[in-house]
Amino acid sequence: MRLLVTGGAGYVGSVVAAQLVEAGHEVTVLDDLSTGHADAVPDGARFVRADLAEAHDALDGQDAVLHFAAKSLVGESVEKPELYWRHNLGGTLALLEAMHGKGVRRIVFSSTAATYGEPISPQILESDPPRPTNPYGETKLAVDMALTAFAGLRGLGAVSLRYFNVAGAYGRFRERHAIETHLIPNVLKVATGEREEVQVFGTDYPTPDGTCVRDYVHVADLARAHLLALGAVTEGEHKIYNLGSGTGFSVKEVVDVCREVTGHPIPEKVGPRRTGDPAVLVASSDKIQAELGWKAERTALPTIVADAWAALSGK
Ligand code: UFG
Repeated sequence: MRLLVTGGAGYVGSVVAAQLVEAGHEVTVLDDLSTGHADAVPDGARFVRADLAEAHDALDGQDAVLHFAAKSLVGESVEKPELYWRHNLGGTLALLEAMHGKGVRRIVFSSTAATYGEPISPQILESDPPRPTNPYGETKLAVDMALTAFAGLRGLGAVSLRYFNVAGAYGRFRERHAIETHLIPNVLKVATGEREEVQVFGTDYPTPDGTCVRDYVHVADLARAHLLALGAVTEGEHKIYNLGSGTGFSVKEVVDVCREVTGHPIPEKVGPRRTGDPAVLVASSDKIQAELGWKAERTALPTIVADAWAALSGK
């Protein structure tokens, strides 16, 4: 297929683009490099440096779009909500209108567990009420709602994948954020010497060891789900799937696994809670397993950390 990957110079987008090229698809990456890296665009993909409002020409002759380009920092979204609404919703609406104009009727969208907010189930289901607690989650939910509307009114075929905590690396493709807020890369930066210690944000949560519990999914497994989703896009329908492992690990457990993998003592310092962090976020991914046949293969936590460490340290 001929595929446009927006945000394909970013972490998840570049891994998906790489897997699409490996699967024999003709891939064009569209990215404005506001947070991505040109050298993350995989060999074999065409690269267009442009933002979503300029996607028009790149859509010519495409069979489908995989849409990753977005602002994705929860904390920043609280400080600068306008930026998030403009980029994430405004940018996506421009893309959807351009797709409509060019007759491109299929999209796979990078959504998030942040659309759910505080969970009501031990394992979050797609049917649970979406009640985001920050502008990042609100803008992603707004896009999901637009996709449902355009599926009904315009015959668009859409699949949204709601990611839980994506981590790990795929060969040389790894997380490289200028502002790194995520736990695993921050812990590993202590082992490389780039940071002195890891900050643990709160030890007084109602969890077994008092630290937050999250559901980590390997970026290679997550990326593979996008190829399955592409095959499941049905015009006139919007399907939504969670993507996680169904198992939770606490912050302390993650730090311990990083110590085992790196052999570094990784000093930690307990700090206050980070605003807006729910105690536990764990997915049910039964739906994507049952309907798309997705299965996590590299999602054991030591594998995720080992792959991230190998890409970061060159070991
Ligand atoms: N944490 C620390 N120290 C750090 C970084 C994180 O203790 O240096 C803790 C956080 O407080 C949290 C856990 O580690 O309890 C995981 O934090 P991350 O920032 O790695 O991930 P989040 O769970 O906050 O966020 C992820 C995605 C978001 C998405 C969210 C869904 O990165 O994009 O899941 O709820 F919105």
